Amino acid sequence: MTKNISPPKDWDRSGLPGWAYFSQELFDLECAAIFKTHWQFVCHVNEVAQSGAYVTFDIAGERAVVIRGTDGQVRAFHNLCRHRGSRVVPDARGTCNKAMICPYHGWAYNLDGSLRGIANKDTFPPMQAEKWGLKPLDMEIWNGLIFIRFQPGPQPAVAEILTRFDAEIAPYDLANMIPATSNSLDDVIPVNWKSIRDVDNEGYHVRQAHPGLHQLYGDGYFDEPFDKGTSRSVGTFNEAYGHRWSVRKYREILPEATHLPQPQQRQWIYFGMFPNFVLGLYPDSVIFYQELPKTATETLQRGMCYRRPDESRQMKVARYLSGRIDRDTGGEDQMLMVWSCEATKSSAYDGVVFSDLEYGVKTYHDHLRHLLPVMEQTTVPELGKMARKNADILAKGIT
Ligand code: FES
Ligand SMILES: [Fe+2]
Repeated sequence: MTKNISPPKDWDRSGLPGWAYFSQELFDLECAAIFKTHWQFVCHVNEVAQSGAYVTFDIAGERAVVIRGTDGQVRAFHNLCRHRGSRVVPDARGTCNKAMICPYHGWAYNLDGSLRGIANKDTFPPMQAEKWGLKPLDMEIWNGLIFIRFQPGPQPAVAEILTRFDAEIAPYDLANMIPATSNSLDDVIPVNWKSIRDVDNEGYHVRQAHPGLHQLYGDGYFDEPFDKGTSRSVGTFNEAYGHRWSVRKYREILPEATHLPQPQQRQWIYFGMFPNFVLGLYPDSVIFYQELPKTATETLQRGMCYRRPDESRQMKVARYLSGRIDRDTGGEDQMLMVWSCEATKSSAYDGVVFSDLEYGVKTYHDHLRHLLPVMEQTTVPELGKMARKNADILAKGIT
């Protein structure tokens, strides 16, 4: 197994400039250059298991719906009625009978996105149905996980980005897992989305800020640097006595997960994919979490847990306990996110200084600066000039 990779000597430990955590102009650029053009995880195929089942997904001013057709195929569309732009399916998730009926004037779309019917059709000039279907989106299914993209971008296929994890993820049989909605996460946090990533991209804070997690894997935890849009972290259980009830019980109760190779039976492994997706492989379940920015200073963090369909009672209890450890950890992280984000507006803020253990944050920032080099600027560009400035730097090839 790869051990923590040491950073080069004299690396830049200073992080992104403070203004990058609250600038509305930068947020608009991020929506265009990052969130619209990079793969976004929507849901697992078993969350849309039946014909007509759908899940919607909103980000960066875009709206999507992923829906299973009568032919069993999953498809993704803009959730945007071709008449006047209403959502065609209104809820976060649900099931349509044979058609998606727009709640505004009642246009109907088949589950494959084609136009089925127009209310009061004779009040429109003749319209060719095949030109008025829902607009399809790029979609890819990887190990049962559905990803979409609103615009083509710099990333290759999801399977290509994540290929280095193929062997490690295979024994979890993720594609056949089912959602365990009792362990879901849905929190709006009053911070810039990068403050969430920054906290999550390093394990230096685990010892101090997460007593439970530290008891679970203590010093057996390491982060690999961010590499070509992906990251990997591993926590191997520390089997010594733990004071926290949930951690002690979790390690005691967790049965042998015989479908996994020996080391993975006592590890939590995290894979990250740029910009905002983390998958956690646990012996009892697989979880994900993801940041969906709402504004420059407000972010929805969502997550879900998936379990094996033939889960034993004992594994169910273990999963309950791992969810409890995760909830505690998430609560502890939120405070750190808020404090570090707030700090960027303080008159005392001089930027940050990273430890070698925070090299994962720096390498993630490198990826951001590569896409939006305006983030190299220590002072915020003049109001209204940010997009121009960024385009100029990109044109000169300085990244
Ligand atoms: S906006 Fe959908 S039917 Fe009018
Ligand atoms: Fe944390």
